[in-house]
Amino acid sequence: MRLDKFLANLKLGSRKDVKKLIKSGLIKVNNELIKKDDYKLKPSDIVSYNNQVLEYKEYVYYLLNKPAGFVSATVDNLYPTVVSLIDDYHDLFPVGRLDVDTTGLLLITNDGEFSHRLTSPKYHVDKKYYVEFSGTYHNDIPEIFKNRIQIDDYLTLPAKYEYISDSSCYVTICEGKFHQVKLMMKSVGLTVTKLERVSFAFLELDNTLECGSYRELTKDEVMKLKNISKELEGDLND
Ligand code: URA
Repeated sequence: MRLDKFLANLKLGSRKDVKKLIKSGLIKVNNELIKKDDYKLKPSDIVSYNNQVLEYKEYVYYLLNKPAGFVSATVDNLYPTVVSLIDDYHDLFPVGRLDVDTTGLLLITNDGEFSHRLTSPKYHVDKKYYVEFSGTYHNDIPEIFKNRIQIDDYLTLPAKYEYISDSSCYVTICEGKFHQVKLMMKSVGLTVTKLERVSFAFLELDNTLECGSYRELTKDEVMKLKNISKELEGDLND
């Protein structure tokens, strides 16, 4: 990749700005001052600006503890977006959606293929929610969730209802239909008053991650998530 493109990708400025930056003698490659904007970088080259090493990552992956009041989109007229919470120059978007009032674990990335695989209805990735609700709990509700629920013209896949108390539970679903948990609860006469996603596949909401904070996924976690969707694809082809 050309040096000026590399710097522009890092959002150090427009292509014109970064050419000036290079001319001004602030950019080094492998500790050597480089003043040519078309300098060809090798993958192993170490680029620094003002003696600070610049690391270019094509894809980034974050785990956000989403607060209420943020919309799972990249632009919105009404609410601030989840991507605005992340200090990163890549073109980020959320992996799937949580409702504006839902909190908890949301993945954010700029990797379209990764996002597509994890949200495609073809792959069934478990998502677990902590739910508080009003209405009268009945003992047959867990069985109803297991046996699938008709919501309008859609029949849900088997879901898991775990009793916590007469006004709270965990619900695990492996799909991501619009308002799915709220609608499933409504179908058994319960109204969701609080919804928090506590896990996504093997990832759990970290106790140390405050609402509104985020962390990068480790390389291992990213690889495991990619493999999960590949394994599921394998199952579907069997
Ligand atoms: N189900 C819902 O109803 N809302 C969410 O935000 C996520 C799952």
